[in-house]
Amino acid sequence: MSNSNTTATPYTRLATIYDYAMRHVDYVHWARYVLSLLARHHAVPSRVLDLACGTGSLALELHRRGVDVLGADGCKEMMSVAVEKARKLNYPIPFYHRNLLNLDDLPACDAVLCLYDSINYLMSPEMVLQAFEEVHRVVTRNGVFVVDICTENNSRQYFSNMQSTEAGDGFSYLRHSYYKKREGVQYNKFEIHFEDTDEMVTELHQQRVYSLAMIEKIVAASPFEMVGAYGGFGYAPPTELSDRVHFVLKKRNT
Ligand SMILES: C[S@@+](CC[C@H](N)C(=O)[O-])C[C@H]1O[C@@H](n2cnc3c(N)ncnc32)[C@H](O)[C@@H]1O
Repeated sequence: MSNSNTTATPYTRLATIYDYAMRHVDYVHWARYVLSLLARHHAVPSRVLDLACGTGSLALELHRRGVDVLGADGCKEMMSVAVEKARKLNYPIPFYHRNLLNLDDLPACDAVLCLYDSINYLMSPEMVLQAFEEVHRVVTRNGVFVVDICTENNSRQYFSNMQSTEAGDGFSYLRHSYYKKREGVQYNKFEIHFEDTDEMVTELHQQRVYSLAMIEKIVAASPFEMVGAYGGFGYAPPTELSDRVHFVLKKRNT
């Protein structure tokens, strides 16, 4: 029995163990892939913004590849981890605390990325549209916006009533994932036990699932046009059976 039970805002307490929980993610591969998408669309960005950068793993990897990168995230705790990782490596990456729905005062960038389901955290098409409009303010005239989504197939296949327990250095956690088709929402509940404080923390993450058609509709209503859509980490067009889809958007000529 733990000393205290707390319910925390998503990512605020997961932040310190996020890199452990996501250790299966190959950010080297992801960085290579996203740079290949930019090249495919003739984008040679001099400055890249990694939006919803989390603990900065992708931003760090892009910096290693010579990219002038900056990061932004809505969760201070996630960003603190990113800042500390960059400091230890002596990488001069600026990180900004920003909500996807308000990107005021960010430097203009030729490429903006928003990856690893981050856009799924916006719970309505209206919010996604607002985020796209905000990105439009940041990206330069011939710039590119690369955004991915986790698909319904992904939620059904891998997050339908899935439970796992993991233990790391000084913590353990139970992760329960479930998908409510009627709501179109994927849930990830983390119950984390921190040994030093003997504290049990619960975080409930909610991700809205968007179909390809929904994203196409949002893009059509936005100041962007879709110039590419790719299933998984490949270059073929996506289908509803793709686990993940990367979209490449460019500013519409007005
Ligand atoms: C699954 S994590 C992905 C993090 C990072 N892109 C990665 O690849 O590891 C989702 C991230 O989105 C951020 N996020 C969710 N909603 C947000 C919002 N409205 N504004 C800014 N960041 C948000 C969270 O704080 C979290 O860092």
